[in-house]
Amino acid sequence: MSKLSVHIETFGCQMNVSDSEQVATKLREHGFELADADASADVILLNTCSIREKAEQKVFRRVNEIKRGRAGRQPLVGVLGCVAQLEGESIFNSSPSVQLVAGTGAADRIPSLLDRVRGGESRVIDLGGREEGADFEISPAVRHSKHVAFVPIIEGCNKFCTYCIVPYSRGRERSRTAFEIVEDVEKLRADGFKEVQLIGQNVNSYRPRVEKGLEGFSGATPFSRLLRAVASTGMTRVKFTTSFPRDFHADIVKAIEEYENLCNWVHLPVQSGNNRILRAMRRGHKVEEYLERVAAVKNSRREISLTSDIIVGFPGETDEEFEDTLRLAEKCEFHGLYIFKYSERRGTPAARLKDDVTKDEKTRRFLSLENLQMAIQSKVYKDYVGRMVEVLAEGFSARSDSDLKGHTTCNKVVNFAASPEFIGKVVRVRVTEAKAHSLFGQLL
Ligand code: 5AD
Ligand code: SF4
Repeated sequence: MSKLSVHIETFGCQMNVSDSEQVATKLREHGFELADADASADVILLNTCSIREKAEQKVFRRVNEIKRGRAGRQPLVGVLGCVAQLEGESIFNSSPSVQLVAGTGAADRIPSLLDRVRGGESRVIDLGGREEGADFEISPAVRHSKHVAFVPIIEGCNKFCTYCIVPYSRGRERSRTAFEIVEDVEKLRADGFKEVQLIGQNVNSYRPRVEKGLEGFSGATPFSRLLRAVASTGMTRVKFTTSFPRDFHADIVKAIEEYENLCNWVHLPVQSGNNRILRAMRRGHKVEEYLERVAAVKNSRREISLTSDIIVGFPGETDEEFEDTLRLAEKCEFHGLYIFKYSERRGTPAARLKDDVTKDEKTRRFLSLENLQMAIQSKVYKDYVGRMVEVLAEGFSARSDSDLKGHTTCNKVVNFAASPEFIGKVVRVRVTEAKAHSLFGQLL
């Protein structure tokens, strides 16, 4: 058979980006060609996200768009990832042009599934788990960046927060061995990558079945031992996301203090600033305990930047309860905050609650929290003006080809004028201007 070209579109979180990279690696190994654009590709794979309703709707809109956009021969369309895992067979009925549905554990098998479709089978479906011992190998050629790499350390989630679909779309927690992770990081370092981001829905609960690779590293939890093991590879920068308050041990902060290459950024979603709502969300901690974690981060002798996620308009959330969230945001002075309107997810415990917060009220709360955060952030960002920051130059800035763009160790976006020869290097930049979500500076 001739070589087929495949275009992959990725929605959602870093885990999906990483899964797409695995799919791309396998496809190349099996003789498929990867296409940057959808226009002429023989196969279009949508790697989907189901975290909120809007994300899910995007998939079906996109499938229709693809179908309408082609005058001639239709491409083979496959739906992968979280929506595929949750909706399964029903996708074939709602979008009859889809020929392949493959869930979150099928990355390895995509080439053979595509071969089955090409062989004439219609409606090929695979919702099975990742094979025992399946490798996570990713070719450097298909990584989303030549300088920053995502390294999954744990998949799935056991927390079952009542609003969240992740435990259903990605199943129970499974940790990779530290040996494999460290090996990945060493390879990435040899390939010239400057930053790794250890990723997982809840990285703090990292718990491999065997100790292989953690021997000789101290730490209060397997995760903080893993951080020390990964930092010891000498990789220029190590970041990790996402943390979970109940599992966020103070020893993580200690590890960051011990190793300069562990970056000074912690993403610690809080979701609400009210104890009744936190209980209804089944987060397993109170506001007071969250603030203790925040204090551990903020009292560090390294200046660690803290970011968070908050959901507004959870079913039953009153005005007063929302105001507690405003007060918490004020106290925490997050360096960045992702705000979401509660979105009902079928099959989650919260979907059984009566959602009595109107759409308009959700919007009002969203804007009110956003306003507050913008004021806090403006202060935080202005504080950087005049300071020197280290930036990994990752590529050209979105606005101008004479500017480069990168991230600080505290994960802030910085744009600065410099020639392309600096791309891939860590440079020193003097901050001259603060924007709402980025800094501007001069190369030193
Ligand atoms: N509705 C709104 N936001 C949600 N998130 C997760 N589930 C939902 C939902 N049902 C948000 C949480 C989480 C982030 C990744 O997405 O804030 O931390
Ligand atoms: Fe969802 Fe809670 Fe798990 Fe995060 S910790 S993925 S919010 S269930």
